[in-house]
Amino acid sequence: MPAEGRAPAAPAKAALDVDRVSLRYATEAGIVTAVEDVSFTVRTGERLVLLGPSGCGKSTLLRAVGGFLKPASGEIRLGGAPVAAPGPDRMVVFQEFDQLLPWRTVSGNIAFALRRARGLSRAEAREVALDWAGRVGLGKFADAFPHTLSGGMKQRVAIARAFAVQPAILLMDEPFAALDALSRRRMQDELLGLCEETGATCLVVTHAIDEALHVGTRTLVMSPHPGRIAAEYDVPEVARRRGTPQFAALEAEIQARLFGGPRAAAEEVVDV
Ligand SMILES: Nc1ncnc2c1ncn2[C@@H]1O[C@H](COP(=O)(O)OP(=O)(O)O)[C@@H](O)[C@H]1O
Ligand SMILES: [Mg+2]
Repeated sequence: MPAEGRAPAAPAKAALDVDRVSLRYATEAGIVTAVEDVSFTVRTGERLVLLGPSGCGKSTLLRAVGGFLKPASGEIRLGGAPVAAPGPDRMVVFQEFDQLLPWRTVSGNIAFALRRARGLSRAEAREVALDWAGRVGLGKFADAFPHTLSGGMKQRVAIARAFAVQPAILLMDEPFAALDALSRRRMQDELLGLCEETGATCLVVTHAIDEALHVGTRTLVMSPHPGRIAAEYDVPEVARRRGTPQFAALEAEIQARLFGGPRAAAEEVVDV
């Protein structure tokens, strides 16, 4: 095809399309709609954050992207192909500390994923696993079993395992929510470092505004139950750095949208 026949300046390639997706659970009390008619695209190389209050359907949506849950309507596509089941092209880091195989060591957990997902030999997988254990600061713990590790260290293993497999997209469901504030900050910075180093495409779920701004390049705010997309914020580099006026301004704006800020409260008083 001649070059002049092509559309100019193609937009960044869509890694993931979530297209008019609704997600429901059948319970004894009836059908629960967790997510209603949600659409968004994650572009290659970006870190998209879904931010919303507890119960708005973030984990449900991430599970659907992971292929663990089928949409009641709509479609999820990865690189244009419909998602039908879990696969190594979408590695998930969960919030829970029990996502590692307890009978395998740190390097064993990473190597196991590498052998299954990338078909590496035992020796190759061990080599790559040791490298990744080192990159997340667990070089000395490569032969330790999960039950001997702290929560933060377990999350590091899960993150290393996900990155090592080099999936098309990394899915993270509040991976630091169960950590203390200091560890959380450190891990957010470490995650950012890995993302920037590898250029990984990420879909991150969180209920914390500061985490959304710090970690993501774009944030979608979800409304409470059932979850829908309520707003979208592009987060420029300067607004991702804690302590900048841009960070504070965006944090306040999103806070106001989610919870009703000081201005909204004042207007209510005037109206009465
Ligand atoms: N396995 C399930 N069975 C029935 N309802 C569920 C199940 N998991 C989640 N839900 C409901 O779906 C809604 C969204 O839950 P969830 O995706 O966990 O929200 P979030 O991750 O944003 O806190 C909630 O109302 C929750 O009670
Ligand atoms: Mg959740």
